[in-house]
Amino acid sequence: MKILVMGSGGREHALVWKLRQSPRVTKIYCAPGNGGIADEAECVPVDVKSLDSMVELANHIQPDLTVVGPELPLMLGVVDEFTRRGWRTFGPTRAAAQLETSKSFAKEFLQRHRIPTAHYAICDSAEQVRDALPHFHTPIVVKADGLAAGKGVVIAKNKDEASTAANEMLSGRMLGEAGSRVVLEEFLEGDELSFLVVSDGERVAPLVAAQDHKRVGDGDTGPNTGGMGAYTTRDIVDDQMREWLLAHIARPVVAGMKAEGAEYKGVLYCGLMMTARGPMVLEFNCRFGDPETQPILMRLESDLVEAMEASIDGRTSDGDFKWSNDAAVCVVMASGGYPGSYEVGKKITGLGDAGKLEGVKVFHSGTSKCEGAFYTSGGRVLGVTTRAAELQTALQRAYEACAKISFDGAHYRKDIAARALRKK
Ligand code: AMP
Ligand code: GLY
Repeated sequence: MKILVMGSGGREHALVWKLRQSPRVTKIYCAPGNGGIADEAECVPVDVKSLDSMVELANHIQPDLTVVGPELPLMLGVVDEFTRRGWRTFGPTRAAAQLETSKSFAKEFLQRHRIPTAHYAICDSAEQVRDALPHFHTPIVVKADGLAAGKGVVIAKNKDEASTAANEMLSGRMLGEAGSRVVLEEFLEGDELSFLVVSDGERVAPLVAAQDHKRVGDGDTGPNTGGMGAYTTRDIVDDQMREWLLAHIARPVVAGMKAEGAEYKGVLYCGLMMTARGPMVLEFNCRFGDPETQPILMRLESDLVEAMEASIDGRTSDGDFKWSNDAAVCVVMASGGYPGSYEVGKKITGLGDAGKLEGVKVFHSGTSKCEGAFYTSGGRVLGVTTRAAELQTALQRAYEACAKISFDGAHYRKDIAARALRKK
């Protein structure tokens, strides 16, 4: 069976790595892929911003299964178009992907279906922002409605700051079209949790939950990033909480989308805040998370191809995934300056030594390969991922591996999963 994986980051590297383990797979293409992925799949060029380019590629490859990593192709309707042409594709349609591509759609959907989320107001103009602000306590969260590659959320300390951020977004100066509508939101406190399920439009199969680390600096300081690391353990949520999340969040979302005529198939990523009032939805993503996918897939012991086909064929069941009880951790090594501006093209050394450590797999996020050597090509460069029976061991090995790898300007957080260790 030939598989086409769309995307070029650490998430896609982990998907390729896991899909390759299926005995049914004979060939994997990754479009466009990256330097590290090229060691495990045939990387082929594509413009993931263009439906035509993706169709042309699939026409050439004739994949038996297409797996879409990032949200942009889903927003463009790649699943609708590929399915129409008879190519089996894992993921939601354009209409279903609105859960991620429009925050106002997601908030109104949550409210219609009484799924717990922060109080909010949707604003299309400065006047509406001015009228809504008195109804909020501070801090206030200001979100651009559309896709903004992680840059669409501002946590404003006071109402002036909130007003400025909202108006900047509305003016189009900050984020273009994505900010032409904004969502003001109540600030929630608690631990964040990434709870992912796979759905066939009706049923859901849960993945093990994970925690991301969004801020660039230790102790959750500094600006937001795409994610600086993640971990998952057997007790990150207990059975009772998992059942609650399925019963009150994942299943109602899938049932609600079906009832509204936009059946949701594929991965549904529920970004949750575990507040004193209970779990609340912060956001949905219509795809796997990055970097959560790296440690999550390290714990997966069953065939990912089977689970994806079950989603496409409408036969997802509770037990589609078999998990190891081990802990898994991913530490992201980033370019100097990231998440601000950074240089690329720095030579990476030590990958071989790091990869030899027990239980270590280094997933590549932003690398290129030239004459056998790897160079940085993005903000997030590597996801150093480990699996071990105990979280402490996994962490120790991950940091041992990071210490062996170097490139000019490299930085990474030293406190991944520290919160989980404190709780023990
Ligand atoms: P989002 O893209 O909606 O997930 O927002 C990005 C990040 O902003 C989240 O991962 C949270 O860390 C933070 N955030 C978003 N909404 C809220 C909220 N209502 N309260 C507190 N923090 C939030
Ligand atoms: N790790 C957050 C995301 O994938 O959006």
